[in-house]
Amino acid sequence: MQVIGVLTGGGDCPGLNAVIRAVVKRAELEGWQVLGFKNGWKGLIENEKVSLDSRMVSGILPKGGTILGTSRTNVFKDPGNIARVKDTFSKNSLNALVAIGGEDTLGVAAKLHKEGIHVVGVPKTIDNDLNATDYTFGFDTAMNVVMECIDRLHSTAESHNRVIVVEVMGRHAGWITLEAGLAGGADIILIPEFPIDLDEVCGLIKKRHDRGKSFSIIAVAEGAKLASHEFLQGAKLDEFGHVMLGGIGNALAKLIEERTGYETRVTVLGHIQRGGSPTAFDRMLGTRFGVKAVELIKEGKFGHMASLTGNKIISVPLESAVNSLKLVPKEMYEMAKVFFG
Ligand code: F6P
Repeated sequence: MQVIGVLTGGGDCPGLNAVIRAVVKRAELEGWQVLGFKNGWKGLIENEKVSLDSRMVSGILPKGGTILGTSRTNVFKDPGNIARVKDTFSKNSLNALVAIGGEDTLGVAAKLHKEGIHVVGVPKTIDNDLNATDYTFGFDTAMNVVMECIDRLHSTAESHNRVIVVEVMGRHAGWITLEAGLAGGADIILIPEFPIDLDEVCGLIKKRHDRGKSFSIIAVAEGAKLASHEFLQGAKLDEFGHVMLGGIGNALAKLIEERTGYETRVTVLGHIQRGGSPTAFDRMLGTRFGVKAVELIKEGKFGHMASLTGNKIISVPLESAVNSLKLVPKEMYEMAKVFFG
């Protein structure tokens, strides 16, 4: 009998429990035992785990978050951790591990693979910025949450004749802001990939108001930049060296009000975008990824990751997913501009 481990790392994301459930169910078909490691890589370093079976994963499919807990622990911050991870493998007679995570968690998985550890990956992030997969699970839910919030902001903005700036997650990539902004009918969308000048933003708002509209919705990604403006972003870094963001919405709202004279408010959506029950799309994608991960182990395809390519689940090397980020392409942003103002 094989023993396999599973862990969830990085920011939580709707659909994680669907993957865990699928891993357990598919592994049980092989007669394998599954151990769930707690709080991401931390659980593997500290050998903190729980035994998972069908009974344990019953009823978790619609639940947000992760029953295993998560953290942004970077194994490679301490050179002694590699030996600790290997020790956990041998203590539990682990044959392989399924690492469910984004760029950072899978980056660690790719490096551990080079250390000879049997690991496969499942791509997760609400940001949808992982390469080598068309979609990550969690993105669809986050996008729908943001779209619903933008719908709701429309009625209050219109009633009060206000500009409302809505700050959306996405530090390097603007996928959620762009797609939810388009789906929700935002009047301007600002993303990290394509900085726009503040004059252009205010000009678009004024043009709209001259046309007889008395309100505007501006969707801005937390990592967006304005050409010619520096925003003070959080100076704190996480274990992977990412700046902890937040603040562009407030700064932008103030500038817009000063420049246009229109009353402006800001809504920072924050972690509400990651919480709650996954959409059907994310439950399905998570389920397909979980099944594939176990099949990769069965085939001995360590160092690989499940990927959605077209409508098929295929396997790709972990390296191809973590080498660079998948950013919004120029033609997509140009298309979005059709709806600005
Ligand atoms: O990586 C997912 C994400 O939600 C980003 O969009 C966001 O910048 C970050 O996590 C927030 O991190 P934390 O949960 O640590 O505040």
